[in-house]
Order: sequence, then structure tokens, then C-alpha cells
Amino acid sequence: MQSLMKKLFFACCLLMVVQLQAQDAKMKSFIDNLMKQMTLDEKLGQLNLPGAGDIVTGQASNSGIAQKIAEGKVGGLFNIKSVEKIKEVQQLAVTKSRLKIPLIFGMDVIHGYRTVFPIPLGLSSTWDMQLVERSARIAAIEASADGINWTFSPMVDIARDPRWGRMAEGSGEDVFLGAEIAKAMVKGYQGSDLSKNNTIMACVKHYALYGAAEAGRDYNTTDMSRIRMYNEHFPPYKAAVDAGAGSVMASFNEIDGVPATGNKWLLTDVLRKQWGFKGFLVTDYTGINEMVDHGIGDLKTVSARALDAGIDMDMVGEGFLTTLKASLKEGKVSQQLIDAACRRILEAKYKLGLFEDPYRYCDVKRAATEVYTDAHRKEAREIAAQSFVLLKNEGNILPLKRGGKIALVGPLADSRENMPGTWSVAAEFGKAISLLEGLKAVAGSNTQIVYAKGSNLDYNAKFEADATMFGKNLKRDERPVEQIIAEAVAAAKDADVIVAAVGESAEMSGEASSRSNIDIPQAQKDLLKALKATGKPVVIVLFAGRSMVITEEAKEYPAILNVWFPGSEAGYAIADVLFGDVNPSGKLSATWPQNIGQVPLFYNHKNTGRPLGEGKWFQKFRSNYLDVSNDPLYPFGYGLSYTSFSYGNVVLSSNKAKGNQKITATVAVTNTGKTAGKEVVQLYIRDVVGSVTRPVKELKGFQKISLQPGETKQVSFTITPEDLKFYNYDLKYDWEAGEFHIMVGGNSRDVQKASIYWDK
Ligand code: BGC
Repeated sequence: MQSLMKKLFFACCLLMVVQLQAQDAKMKSFIDNLMKQMTLDEKLGQLNLPGAGDIVTGQASNSGIAQKIAEGKVGGLFNIKSVEKIKEVQQLAVTKSRLKIPLIFGMDVIHGYRTVFPIPLGLSSTWDMQLVERSARIAAIEASADGINWTFSPMVDIARDPRWGRMAEGSGEDVFLGAEIAKAMVKGYQGSDLSKNNTIMACVKHYALYGAAEAGRDYNTTDMSRIRMYNEHFPPYKAAVDAGAGSVMASFNEIDGVPATGNKWLLTDVLRKQWGFKGFLVTDYTGINEMVDHGIGDLKTVSARALDAGIDMDMVGEGFLTTLKASLKEGKVSQQLIDAACRRILEAKYKLGLFEDPYRYCDVKRAATEVYTDAHRKEAREIAAQSFVLLKNEGNILPLKRGGKIALVGPLADSRENMPGTWSVAAEFGKAISLLEGLKAVAGSNTQIVYAKGSNLDYNAKFEADATMFGKNLKRDERPVEQIIAEAVAAAKDADVIVAAVGESAEMSGEASSRSNIDIPQAQKDLLKALKATGKPVVIVLFAGRSMVITEEAKEYPAILNVWFPGSEAGYAIADVLFGDVNPSGKLSATWPQNIGQVPLFYNHKNTGRPLGEGKWFQKFRSNYLDVSNDPLYPFGYGLSYTSFSYGNVVLSSNKAKGNQKITATVAVTNTGKTAGKEVVQLYIRDVVGSVTRPVKELKGFQKISLQPGETKQVSFTITPEDLKFYNYDLKYDWEAGEFHIMVGGNSRDVQKASIYWDK
């Protein structure tokens, strides 16, 4: 029976392979035929990706870009909003250009489309891959209904330095969690069939190491050893490629002295040859032109270099369009390279089904019925509530009780525009739910809510203007500070509790929003102090696009709920958690430092030759600081619940293993509180002795479980040598025999430990 099943399985696999080969052959012959008809100019046109510019519905043919499209000088366009415009532009391409090649339409659909989900850093804090995938699926449904077939997401750059504003757009500091999320996002966007009208092509970015910018300053240089790249930064990019991501975006930064956009080792040797990436490679915005400022040549030189390195599509800068012809004539690039790039772009269009039907993603009816639906908004609300991280809850001050009077104070309490967070290009800011609205709706009529702004975002008006761009104005209050604070204190006077909505504005994180101080701005700190002086309990609802320094607040205030930027349903989701309708279960995907000087601070660091003794602060001639301990304020994986959990010992199926044996590590987790709740049970492994130094621990598994009050669950992880592998000095991916510590816990610091010896 078993052997019959096996045979059947292999027959099915074989059939699938044969079918795939037939599909590939069909695609190849279609593209061969098309390319035979293409002139050099038309081929170069396919490599060109301009921004949408000035296109207005009903007038696409008069837009600046129309002429170029008609001449076959455009391969795709990005960031056009609305199916009507896209349909018009597509019509230009397939009726006016000689070969009628359809355009690909890209957009930064980063965390939702019109229905906006939490910023990616928030999504990663759910540690729930089904929810992450679902958010990408809904984003794909909405974007494709509105004409988009390609998204510049997921962003999988590892971020260990919270000064870097783009930490908001990724999944934090860990490669294991990052890789899981990368896979889930690609699956969510692309589904199992890219040619369906409700799936879109993913673009993994920013390849590579963009998150390792020196001093956390955006676009800055990166420099690191290859062993570190392979072990500590590459895995999420590779996971996305393995999951079938159709495209990859090169990053702005340099690597080993060569900008990624022109780095052949990175783009061709690693991505294509080692990882087998078959899709197409696009630059980031003017990535080719910026190599001139990097200082490696003029536009013609760097364009040739980018093509040679492996770039297929040139975003915005038109270096390919304007210089490659001359470079070809001079023998600086080959026809073969141009053909290969053109072919990859045509293949992407083919896979999206655009040759079969260029209007596949231009169904105006879908746009009217599938975007920003009640059902999607409901899911966005639920997902947002799962992303919040309860950092502190002294005396169980949360959840809030209904009834009585709540004073809602703070510059972020009454802002719709800031709720979607950075990179929410398709959001309608005016429709997002502010905290004030959400709180009123969820509290019910017997709870009185009074509101006062209490402070501006920052004392410095210029800073505030820079941090509230792109329609995210916080309506600066020009009255004297004392007056603004006094109003809030008066509002809080006979309240039972104060909810303070403070922290960062949406544009204090994201692209080109690096900070050298990552704390709550002083104007808001002063407000908090005044509120505390009223003697009322102050609950902080913290808005953040990065790990922040809140050491003072963590000491002074009884409750802190970190809500990131929750998306279009923000106010409802926050209120759901504040009132306990949803029990918080988010866990940090990056360490929160005690002060800025500790940065970069991450859990999976090396031990050094002079580690600080456990539980110690300062020790002379040890690796530490005089003025702060080595501990984080909140470790990676940390997050509280309205209930509590206890962990039993780690029980291993054996403390000796050999070869490809499977070992299980089991822990009993109990809900010791009075409320049902979810817990993220985390597995960490330490490779005690290696041929190269190994981190003090590495995340290797996690499970999010639900527990009723008093309930205990046995949580088991299966461990195989696959989990022990790493890139060694020769960049060979393998595991080494020896002792391993197996650790399980509710965060990266508080773990139960067992040991195993694993022989080859
Ligand atoms: C960003 C990318 C983005 C691109 C297109 C660039 O500035 O770095 O992440 O996809 O613009 O909007």
C-alpha cells in the first residue's frame, strides 16, 4: 500500500515537472518570437521604468510619458493610483506602440493598499505568519483590483540600528523571523498562480544589507565581513527568492566598496548563481545615476556597469535608455546582456498573463467592489490589535474599565492622517480611524471621554514640519506651551485615568527619517510629567516606527502599550485592546535599548573573549560600559499580556543525538492568570563551540498558542541538524558536531535551558 502511494506521489511530481517544462517551453518560444521582431531601441525601452509623473485620468495621451510609451521606450510605470488611469496608459502601450507590448505597473504596496495594515515592524510583532500572509493577500487583492500587478515589497532588510528610519518597513533584527515573514509575504502577494487577476508580483528589497547603514543614517555606507552577510543578513532575501519572488530590487548602499546596483558579485554570483534566482532585477529609484555620486564613473560608465552586474530594469534615471546603445557600439556591453535583461522583463509580463490580456488587472468593477471593503477593514482591525506590544502594566491598570471618565491627551490622539504610518501610498488618510474616534466608538455611551491635545509633537517647529510631511500634518498649536499643557491638565482633573497618545509621528520613521535620538520628544515628555503630577494614573499609548528609548517613561508610568502605526483601523484596534476586548499578544521583533549609546544592541550577539558575568553591571577589563549595563530595556521577543504565563523545564527526547536524527524539545506552558490569552513560545539554540565564533543564542522556532485561564499546553519543537547549520569561514553551509544549548521561553532573555551533544 505504502509503496503504491509512493509511486503515485512520484508520478504526480513527474507530471508537474513535465507540465512546468511545457509551460516554460511555450513561454520561451513566445518570447523568442517577439524578441526577433524587436529593435535595439525597443529592447532598451523594456528596461526603462519611469515614475508615473503627470498622468491625469482622461488625459493620459497628453501626458509627458505618452510619447515615450508610443515609441516603445517604456517597460513599466510605477506609483499610478487608480484603475482608470492604468487602463488608459495600458491602452496607449497596446495600441500605439509598434509591438503592442503591455506595460507592467508597480507600486509601493508595503503594508496594505487602501485598507492599511500595521507598518511591517508592527506586523512582524504579531509573530503570526497566517496573519502576515493574509495582510499581503488582501493588499494584493486590493492593489490588483486597482490596476497594479507588481509591488515593491517585501522589504526584508535586517535592522539592528533603530536610528535607521526604515526599520519601520521591515521585520526587525532577526534573520529567522525575517525569513519566515519574507516567505509569508511572497506567498500572500503571489499566491500559487501569478497570472490570476488578484495576485501580484513581489519584489524583494533592498538587496542587500541596506539596513546596515553606518550610524543608522539612511543611504550610508555599509561594510561587513562576508561571513556576517551570509549568516546575519542574507537569509531573508534568500528565503523570499526560494519562495518564488518574481523580482528583486538592488539597494542604494555600497558593499565592499561597490554600490549594490553595480555589484556583480552580489547580483550575479550570489543571487543568480548561488541562489538560482530566475526573476528580474530592478534598481532602486535612480540607483544607477547615484553611482555617479558614489564616485565610480559617469552615467554611461555606471549604466554599463549596472547591466554587467546583473540589473535588468532601471528605475527612473534612464541611464540604460540614454547610454547603453553607445556602450554597445563601443563594445562596453554585449548584445547578449541586453537581450537577457529584456527577456527577463518580458518573462515577468508573460507570467503575469499580460500578453494574454493586457487589461487583466483593469477591471473597473473589481475596483469598485474589492477595495477598502468592510470585510478587509474588519481584518485590518483584528490584525492591528495582534501587533501591539504591552511593554508595562503595573498593578494591572490595563485593561480600562468601561464607565467613568477617561482623559485622552497627546498630539497623536486626534490624528487620522498619522495612523496609517509611513509608506502607505494608496491610503486615504482622512478615512483612517483616530484614537479619539475609536475610543469613543468602542467605549460605549456610559464612558465619558474628554480630549485635549496637551502638546505639539516637538518644541521645534521646523522639526515638526519635517516630521509631518506628505499630508500628515499635526495642526501645530501656536499658543504658549503652558497654556496647552494647562488645558490638558484641566481636562484630566476629574478623570479616572489618563490615556496619553505620545511618541513619534508617522514620518519620523521611514525613508530618509533617521534620528540620532530615538526617545519621545521633549515637548511630550513635559506633557507626561504634568499629567503625572495630577496624581491620576497615566497609561501611555506609544506610537513608534522603530525601537525607541523610553527608559525614563518605563520607570515613571504604570502602563505602556506600544501600538506602532496600526493602519486604517487604528483607533478601533487600540480601543479594542485598551478595553480588554482583545488581549495583547505582540512580541518585539527588535531589541529596545536603555539608551542610544548602546546601539546597535541585539540579542544574537557574540560572546566576545571578555563577556560580562551574568547579572553583572560594570566589571573592569570586561566588554561593557561604565555608565550603563549591557542589558536592553526590553529584549527581543518581549511582550506582556493581560494574563500571565509560566514555563516548565525544557525536556529533550534525548540529550545525545547523531547525524540526521530528530530531537524534540518540549515545554509545558501554563496560563497562570484569569484571562484567556496568546503566547509566543520561542525556541533558541546556542552552538557552544564552533570552528568560528557563534552567537550566544539564535531563534530557531516559535509557536503562537492560545491558552484558557489555568490551561497548560505541552509545546514541542522538532530539532534537526538543519537547524544547526551556519556559514563557516569558507562560507560553506553546514553544521558541526558538539554541544548545543536548547532554550525555550517567552522572550529571548527569560528562557529555560537544556543541553544536548550532537554527533556527526
Ligand atoms: C525606495 C524604495 C521604493 C522606491 C519606489 C525608493 O526611494 O528606497 O523602497 O520602492 O523608492 O518608490
